[in-house]
Amino acid sequence: MKSTTDFVKARLAEFGWIIIPDCNADYFIILMVSLGKPVGMALVGAFDEEGRGSRRDTDLPMHRDGVYSAQLAKVQGGFYVEQPGIDFVGLYCICDSEERCVTLVGDQEIEMKGGQVLIFDNNRYLHGRRGPVGSRLLIRMWIQKVPEEKTNATKE
Ligand SMILES: [Fe+2]
Repeated sequence: MKSTTDFVKARLAEFGWIIIPDCNADYFIILMVSLGKPVGMALVGAFDEEGRGSRRDTDLPMHRDGVYSAQLAKVQGGFYVEQPGIDFVGLYCICDSEERCVTLVGDQEIEMKGGQVLIFDNNRYLHGRRGPVGSRLLIRMWIQKVPEEKTNATKE
């Protein structure tokens, strides 16, 4: 686990994002917690007709989690209190949709597949979404960096 965590951290430090294929939800959560302190966890899918974009079948403009833009508020129909200080956003795809739903991270366009993990640096890249969410279901975790000596990754 330590070597995987080190690899993921190095990749995030260098490129600001990483995709891990063929993961599972348990491992995803353990990996995310090794990156810092979890400050939020949610299911992302098409559940509601109004409210937060992460629960609706709607495109999302480029934004940064924890920082509510006027553009995002316009799409979502209101302002929401979000945890500030989100350093990493991790997404685990429980199941993908038959329709093409694209996750945008900077200029990357990623069509997430079931079992895939996407982690990106929330400070370095804006992100968004384009296309129908349909039956796609994600777990989203928000992580706040903590001093290295306090992370689970370095605990023996
Ligand atoms: Fe977001």
